[in-house]
Amino acid sequence: MKKSWLQYDDANMRRDQVGKTGVSTAEWTRIVPQLRAAKQAILQLDRTKTQGFLSLPKDAETVKNCEARAAQTRKRFSDLIVLGIGGSDLGARAIHHALSHVRKGMCVHFAGSSTDPGQLLRILNEVNLKKTCVNVVSKSGGTLEPMSAFLILRDRLKTQIGKRFAEHVIATTDPLDGVLRQIAIQEGYATLPIPKNVGGRFSVLSACGLFPAAAMGVDIASLLRGGREIADAFRGESSSVNAPSRYAGLHVIASRKRGQRIQVVMPYSASLGEFAKWVRQLVAESLGKKQTRSGRSVFEGVTPIAAVGPEDQHSQLQLYAEGPFDKTVTAIGVASTGRDMMVPRAAGLPDAVNRFSGHSLSSLLTIEREATMESLRRVHRPNGTIQIQSLDERSLGGLFQFYEIAVAMMGELLDVNAYDQPGVELSKRIMKEAMMG
Ligand code: PA5
Repeated sequence: MKKSWLQYDDANMRRDQVGKTGVSTAEWTRIVPQLRAAKQAILQLDRTKTQGFLSLPKDAETVKNCEARAAQTRKRFSDLIVLGIGGSDLGARAIHHALSHVRKGMCVHFAGSSTDPGQLLRILNEVNLKKTCVNVVSKSGGTLEPMSAFLILRDRLKTQIGKRFAEHVIATTDPLDGVLRQIAIQEGYATLPIPKNVGGRFSVLSACGLFPAAAMGVDIASLLRGGREIADAFRGESSSVNAPSRYAGLHVIASRKRGQRIQVVMPYSASLGEFAKWVRQLVAESLGKKQTRSGRSVFEGVTPIAAVGPEDQHSQLQLYAEGPFDKTVTAIGVASTGRDMMVPRAAGLPDAVNRFSGHSLSSLLTIEREATMESLRRVHRPNGTIQIQSLDERSLGGLFQFYEIAVAMMGELLDVNAYDQPGVELSKRIMKEAMMG
């Protein structure tokens, strides 16, 4: 991998920079063999196809299918409504938000993540259903929120379009099983698969994220290329050097040895706010587990906070700097924003505002990020920075894969199953009872 486009600077996670709250050299040395074992375990899951997320970026076939389907959809429709929740929603949303400056395709709307009628009504007010395609995304096919939204849209499509309504639906779901697959077959929808061995929150680089991305005019081959370069680096580099592995090792030490169980992810980019929410789900749902893989009670987990800089510098930074010593902060910096604006001189106005003059907005963003991280360092708050060269398809694909690897590594180190979510089931059972009764 050419390292210049994605780097992880972990200096401020370490003791020589932040003092006793940081990771010591001895602690780091002790965890390196565990990192190696964790990497081998993940590679084994990949080789045996038990978990598929690491190989998704190699799947050229899916790129081809998603591009072809998106091209057809774009020709016929102006709008796409994507219905999904959790892992079937947040990745595509993150792409939509992050790449608004490059997308040039369909107008994409997101619903199905809430049963608040306002979410769907707002979209229905904006679109003409005759020119709208619905992409219902659910691996299981049985999820309340997207499927109830789908039933409403299906009904409206049937009323407005008549018999050929099925041509307006694309179902992204399990390749063989589940109720959505069954409905798709019964009613004749086009379908795209979410591989069986890829869980919802690890599925952004499958058709789940790629089809909406292609429809919005994003270069999905480059998205996968970025993911592939990060996956290849993970395979090829030593674990003590590899960026997501270092991230995992340092954060597990921070959590276990220092009680720093809150991980703030704070991109300094307004476009990466939804990406931070995607990370939040990945970390929370993968690592929050009551028992180890062998069944010992541990009540493990780290609490992710999705922040955005510099907005949250004036909102949450006070807590990060002076509150409990229970957090780490990771900034994501974008070296070159591409588009930029200069702050002009304003003759006659006081120096207090004129000192901002002559700076570009992007250089101010960098100053703000570096100042935040330095201020945290000075008050002994461990922090790190992931730096990407520019916000484009390749770096976004790389960021997705970076966090998927880091979280899988943390799962191994903490000895929890990062790929299931039994804690969500109880609420689902209670909802089912409430609906029946
Ligand atoms: O990560 C996960 O597995 C979950 O967040 C699921 O993606 C979410 O519950 C939606 O599930 P489904 O795709 O089956 O509708």
